Amino acid sequence: MAVNKVNRLKGTQDIMPDEACLWQEIEDIARDTALTYGYRLIRTPIIEETALFARSSGEESDIVKKQIYSFPDQGGRDICLRPEATASVCRAYIENHIDKAEGFVKLFYSGPMFRSERPQAGRYRQFHQIGVEAIGSYSVYLDAEVIMLLDDMLKRFGVFGHVFHINSLGCAKDKSAIKARIRQALKPSLNSLCPDCRRRYDTNILRVLDCKAPACRDIIADIKLGNTLCRECEQGFSTLQRLLQNACIEYAVDDRLVRGLDYYTGIVFEVTSSALGAQDALAAGGRYDNLLSDLAGPRIGATGFALGLERIIQAIKDKDALKTRGSEALKVFVISLGGAAREKCFYILSVLRKKGIACDMDYESRSFKAQMRHANKVNAGFVVIVGDEELAGGECILKDMKDSSQRRIPFDGLAGEFNSVKMRTKRNA
Ligand code: HAM
Repeated sequence: MAVNKVNRLKGTQDIMPDEACLWQEIEDIARDTALTYGYRLIRTPIIEETALFARSSGEESDIVKKQIYSFPDQGGRDICLRPEATASVCRAYIENHIDKAEGFVKLFYSGPMFRSERPQAGRYRQFHQIGVEAIGSYSVYLDAEVIMLLDDMLKRFGVFGHVFHINSLGCAKDKSAIKARIRQALKPSLNSLCPDCRRRYDTNILRVLDCKAPACRDIIADIKLGNTLCRECEQGFSTLQRLLQNACIEYAVDDRLVRGLDYYTGIVFEVTSSALGAQDALAAGGRYDNLLSDLAGPRIGATGFALGLERIIQAIKDKDALKTRGSEALKVFVISLGGAAREKCFYILSVLRKKGIACDMDYESRSFKAQMRHANKVNAGFVVIVGDEELAGGECILKDMKDSSQRRIPFDGLAGEFNSVKMRTKRNA
């Protein structure tokens, strides 16, 4: 009976080993950069109560209205695959009483997120984010810091030519003023807006600025918003721009930038890249000063960002440079000639591996030539050769693949030979 093939789900991807080492390298760079800025790693569950996102992202947001993967679990609870991690990190902050223990924290995360979107280039149903959240402060220096950290990460990944778009939604009063201004400006064109936006006009007017429908985009582009910020928010926004200029970060002020999630307050930003197609946002973030209290936590300020790994990989020009750095290139390949030598080689592997030296061997009794070919293929830095003669003499041949030089080493001195090599490889990484 013919067996049907099971394929991966639409909008998901297999990250195969060649590509996976690139992912690994990006995650390592991101983590190291975040650590340099004082952020600490947090891991939260992939499944959460659906209510967490309904309350944080907003009932009217696309994420909650159309994209959330929610389902009842065996106990009848309404749970979901997380569509983003900011709300999860805030839940964890509140649930673990971090406000009592530390108050202010800077956190870093990376992992898969899930949104039931129409799959297309750069838009997946399972995608991966790297993000940071600085929770417990209203300081504009933190808004500047997260943007600088993001810019630093992007440059270290090898992403260039990206643009930061920044805006300030202001305080609650300013936000109401912006909403009133948009409502007034859109009133004459109400019937020309898409059905979603006609609904949003009453339920969540800010979302209209986010609409991607061409007709809405034209109308939005024509409306004049002017300055709606109060003195204090205006000053905060000016300070941010000064701090970014001092850090030589190029940005463009975009008064249409409101972001698609309801929890944002104050400064928001998005980074786009011309290396991407229609889905050109590499990363986005901003301040969410009401989110913790909306989730029954303390009234404290917070800001952060998340970047999309798939889009970062698409935007990196020189992928090979990162791949070589990140590849788990075998350091030592052990070649055996004959059955007895193979057993000895297998033992050598165990000794080297216990010392943390990456190594492998041939398991198929292939010819010397075939084993050498394989050593080259896996990019081995060194080859250890053991045949009957070496076995009898209690030594092996060590070949340096860089200059093809070789010498004889006693078996018990072999691991020691790689101490200096290990240091050298680390420094080169
Ligand atoms: P977001 O704008 O929804 O923000 O997502 C951030 C980034 O994730 C996007 O700029 C994009 O690169 C990537 N992304 C989003 N959806 C997809 C998708 N379907 N396929 C591929 N990549 C995608 C947030 O998630 C907020 N939590 C960011 C934040 C953190 N704000 C404050 N702190």
